Formats: sequence, C-alpha cells, structure tokens
Amino acid sequence: MVYAIETQGLVKSYGALTAVDHLDLTVATGSIYALLGPNGAGKTTAVEILEGIRTLSRGRARVLGEDVANDYARVRSRIGALPQDFEPFDRLSPLETVLYWSRLFGRSLSRPDAVRLLEAVGLQERMGVPALRLSGGEKRKLGMAIALVPEPELLFLDEPTTGLDPSARREVWQLVRGVRKEGRTVLLTTHYLDEAEQLADDVGILHRGRLVAEGRPEELIARNAGRTLIVLGGAGAAGLREVEAEGFPARLDREDVLVPVADPTEMRAALGRLAALRTPFADMYTRRSSLEDVFLQIVGSRMEEGVLQA
Ligand SMILES: Nc1ncnc2c1ncn2[C@@H]1O[C@H](COP(=O)(O)OP(=O)(O)O)[C@@H](O)[C@H]1O
Ligand SMILES: [Mg+2]
Repeated sequence: MVYAIETQGLVKSYGALTAVDHLDLTVATGSIYALLGPNGAGKTTAVEILEGIRTLSRGRARVLGEDVANDYARVRSRIGALPQDFEPFDRLSPLETVLYWSRLFGRSLSRPDAVRLLEAVGLQERMGVPALRLSGGEKRKLGMAIALVPEPELLFLDEPTTGLDPSARREVWQLVRGVRKEGRTVLLTTHYLDEAEQLADDVGILHRGRLVAEGRPEELIARNAGRTLIVLGGAGAAGLREVEAEGFPARLDREDVLVPVADPTEMRAALGRLAALRTPFADMYTRRSSLEDVFLQIVGSRMEEGVLQA
C-alpha cells in the first residue's frame, strides 16, 4: 500500500496545550480522506504541519514519501492547499487572481489555461467579476482553482464547505470527487458529519487532538452496531435506564430513546426491556446508523456547527 500521507506519533504543543496528540494517520494515494472534528480539535494544526506551514513538536510525518521535518522542499511543488477562511483579493477578478497566484507559484499559466481551470471549477460565468461580488461558494471554488494551479498530487482542503448553503456544498463535493477522479489525493477537514459520510473514502475522527476512530464510514457505522432503534415518546429516562441495564450504549434525545442494535435478537432484547416498563410509547422504528450516531457514541456529545453540545 502506498500512502500519500503517513504520520507516527505526531504531536504539536502550543505551550501547555497539546493541539495534536500522538496522531497516527495514513491516507491512501488517490483517496479522499476526511479529518472530522469539532472546532479546536486540532484539524488545522495537523493539516498545516502536513502542508509544511507549521513545525511539529514530536513524532514523524511523511508527505508523498518525504519527511516533512527535513525534506519539505521536495514536496512543496507537488501539493496544493485551500486554507481555512480563504478570502481572495476583493478587487481582482477570478481570472486575474488565478494568473496572479500562478506567477507566485512560478507556473505562469497562460490565459487560456487559467480560463480552462476556472471553467473546471464552474466559474466560467464569473471570471471577470471583482471577487468582492462573488458568493461564498464562488469564493471557495476560486480558492480551489488556485490550489489546483500547481497540478498537485495531493490537495489539502481545510473546511472547504463551512458556511456554504446546501447546494453550494454539493457543488464543492462534486469538484472534490472530480479531483479524485483525476488520480489526486485529497485530505479535507470538516465538522459536517454528513459531508464526511458522503464524500470521504476514509474518515478520521479527531477529538482534543486525538484520533478517536478511523476507517471507512461504512465500517465505522457497522462497528457501532449498524442500525439504531428509535423509540418515540413516553419511554424517557426510565426507558434509557432499562436498555442501559441490558448493556446497550443507548442515549436519550428529548423523550425518545435511541438504541444501537446489531441484529433482530438485540432489537428484541431492547424492546423486551422497554415493554417491561409498561410505559406506553408513541411509535418505534429502526434506521441505518449514521456517522453522527457513531460520533455521539464515541465522543459522548453531539456536534452542531462544529461546536460540541453538552
Ligand atoms: N498558533 C497557535 N497558538 C496557540 N494555540 C493555538 C494556535 N493554533 C491553534 N491553537 C489552539 O490549538 C487547538 C487546535 O486548534 P486548530 O488546529 O485550529 O483546531 P481546528 O482546526 O480543529 O478547529 C485550539 O485549542 C486552538 O486554540
Ligand atoms: Mg480549523
């Protein structure tokens, strides 16, 4: 197996704070990897170490086969990056912006090449408009065009869809899938659980600098029982205690009880406990577990807009 990124025991400390805590990461070449976590989890720190922007405190990291601490010069021209909160210069148009950055990268794209790149990210209609008139989604696409100027083998996207509306997010997903189709590797960060589930080949859940779970979304969901039984209304805290006593790592969502269940036997066991309570409940159903269920189970709290809820 060839890895585009490999880290071993990667640590980054800011004074007393350990922002990245013994991170072991492997990103397969040609895949989309999502580093998923709430604000402050250490995503940007980890990504910027891998981009050669920040230095690591301890451990090892290899990017495209080269050691980031010693041999970064050899990989710099082979990566592209969209930083978190990227903002283009207000007065430059997308076409001027791409030409400007391409000169900075020492690539000096021709005008037709810059136009083709902007067409590829879906900005053909907006190439001549000053960037201050672009929407959030268009600015993100422009950022991706810049990141693609070096024709990178490896693309870093730090929160490429944060703050975008659902349709703009989907367009960015399509772009990212297109980048993978061209054989490039993508490491992206996100705090959107659905984004990681839909877009990524592999997901790493980062919590307080630690990788608390890693794998294909499907695997993570299967490992966490696969399905969730939802008992609506009525069962409440007493119901939760009953199923917990049966050994299920259940949780309460208002008055509803959510129980991860692997198979019908487990479902019967959980329902038996609830029936014994003799408290009527409104309805029940099972559904496929989501990455959000997995996250809740591992981290113990819900994440909304990148913030952990109590
Ligand atoms: N340059 C810095 N100096 C000190 N602390 C920092 C610095 N950059 C990030 N941190 C802290 O490190 C932790 C991880 O931050 P960050 O990597 O930005 O997380 P994320 O991208 O997941 O939101 C946070 O507690 C943040 O406040
Ligand atoms: Mg960040």
